[in-house]
Amino acid sequence: MAASNLRFGAHATREVGQDFSNMISQLPAAERSGAKIGVFTDPNVAKLPVMEVVEESLVREGLNWVVWDKCAVEPTDKSWQAAIDFARSSNITHFLAVGGGSSMDTAKAANLFTNYPEADLYEFINAPIGRGRPIERKLSPLIAIPTTAGTGSETTGTAILDIPSKSFKTGIASRALKPTLGIVDLNNTATCPREVAIAAGLDVLFHSLESWTAVPFNERTPRPANPINRPAYQGSNPISDIFSKWALETTIKYLPRISKDAQGDTEARAQMLLAASTAGIGFGNAGVHIPHAFSYPISSLNKGRPKERQYHHPSYAPDVPLIPHGVAVSLTAPAVFNFTAPSSPQRHREAAAIFMGDRAGELARVRDEDLGRVLQEEIRRFLDILGVPRGLSEVGYKNEDIATLVEGCMPQRRVLDLAPILAKDDKAQEREQLTHIVEGSMSW
Ligand SMILES: NC(=O)c1ccc[n+]([C@@H]2O[C@H](COP(=O)([O-])OP(=O)(O)OC[C@H]3O[C@@H](n4cnc5c(N)ncnc54)[C@H](O)[C@@H]3O)[C@@H](O)[C@H]2O)c1
Ligand SMILES: [Zn+2]
Repeated sequence: MAASNLRFGAHATREVGQDFSNMISQLPAAERSGAKIGVFTDPNVAKLPVMEVVEESLVREGLNWVVWDKCAVEPTDKSWQAAIDFARSSNITHFLAVGGGSSMDTAKAANLFTNYPEADLYEFINAPIGRGRPIERKLSPLIAIPTTAGTGSETTGTAILDIPSKSFKTGIASRALKPTLGIVDLNNTATCPREVAIAAGLDVLFHSLESWTAVPFNERTPRPANPINRPAYQGSNPISDIFSKWALETTIKYLPRISKDAQGDTEARAQMLLAASTAGIGFGNAGVHIPHAFSYPISSLNKGRPKERQYHHPSYAPDVPLIPHGVAVSLTAPAVFNFTAPSSPQRHREAAAIFMGDRAGELARVRDEDLGRVLQEEIRRFLDILGVPRGLSEVGYKNEDIATLVEGCMPQRRVLDLAPILAKDDKAQEREQLTHIVEGSMSW
C-alpha cells in the first residue's frame, strides 16, 4: 500500500506558493536560485479563479515560474509530447498541475520525461503496448490541485493518454508518478458545469466499485521476481477496501444531489471531492478492471469516426468530439458487474445494498445467482437519475463496432489483469466473455 499526501479544505490553494518555498529552501544553497516551477493547466481552467489564486500565491513568495496552458482535455500522445518538449526546454525543477485529470496526467508525464531526457513516449507505457520500463529515478516534486471531483489523479501514480493511431487510450502506472502533495480545495470545483461534475463523479463511482471487486491481492499473478516490478495495482486488499467502500457510499449519496445542483450544493461538492481522493487512494493501490479497460477504446474510437457519427457531450468544447471518461466507463459497467458477481457474491451483495439504500432489505430474498442481475439493474437506475446515455448505441456505436471495441479492450492488461472471472489464459474464451459484455451494453 503506497500512501498519498493530501491537504483538504476550502482556500488550501492559497498555500501552494509557501509549499514550493518550503521545498526550495531545503535545496543546497547553490541550487535555490535555479528553482523554477512549471504550472500545467488547460486553456479553459487557465481562465478560472483558481489560476488567479495560484498565481497570486506564487507571486507572493517571489518564485520563478512558467505556465503551460495547452494541456489537451483527455490528452493524446501529441499533446503530451508538446508539454514534454516545453518542460524539457524550460529548465523546470518543480511541477504544479491545476485542473482535472487531463492536466494532472500531463504534468506527471512532463515531470517523468524531463527526468528521463533520453526516453521516448513508449518507454514507460505499460506492456504490451509500450515497453513498460520501471521508473527507477526519483522524479521532481509535483503538487496537484484538482478542479474536478474526479479522477483522484492527485493521489495516484497513473497517467492516461489517448493514442489515436491505435484507437485506444492507455497509460503509465508507477508509484514514482504519485504527486508529492495533492491540494484538494472545495472552492476549485465551484465553477464545474453540471455535465462535467456528473462525468467526473461517475469516474469516482466506478473507481470505487471496480477496486472493491478487483481480484484479491493474494490471488493476483504473476508475483514479480523483483519488487521494483510489482505493479501499482495490487488487487483488492483490506486497506484499499476501506477507502473504496467509503467512496462508493459517499458517491451514491451525494452524486444525485450534484446532478440537481452542481454548483450551489456545497455540502455535496465537498463530499464528492473527498470521495474522489479517497477512491483514488483505493483504486490507486487495488486497481480498476473491465469498465475502465473498455472505456479506453470507447473514448478513442469516437474521435476517429466520420464527423457525422462523432459524439459530443454537452458542456464540453463543442468542436472536440468527446465521450467524457466517466461516461465512457459507465457504459459497460452494468453488464460488467452482472458478469463479475459470481466471483464474490458477498461483495456484490454489499454493493447492491449501498445502491438500494432503504430498499436493501429486499436483498434478503435474492439468491447469490441472481445478484448480478440485481446489481446491474441498480446501477442502471442510478445512471438514469443522472441522465447519462443509456448504452453504447446512444453515443453512436453499432453492432458492427462490437469486434473493434473488444480488440481495443484486450491489450489493456494493466487493468484486465485485475478483472475477476475473466479467462485471462484463454484468449478465445476471454474474447467471447468481453463480446458478451459489449452486446449487453448496447442499450437498456
Ligand atoms: N491518473 C488517473 O489516475 C486517472 C484516473 C481517471 C481518469 N483519468 C483521466 O483524466 C481525464 C479526465 O479528467 P477529468 O474528468 O478530471 O476532466 P478533464 O481534466 O478532462 O476536464 C474536463 C473539462 O472540464 C473543464 N474543467 C475542469 N475543471 C473545471 C472547473 N473547476 N470549472 C469549469 N470547468 C472545468 C476542463 O477545462 C475540461 O473542459 C481523462 O483523460 C481520464 O482518462 C486519470
Ligand atoms: Zn477513471
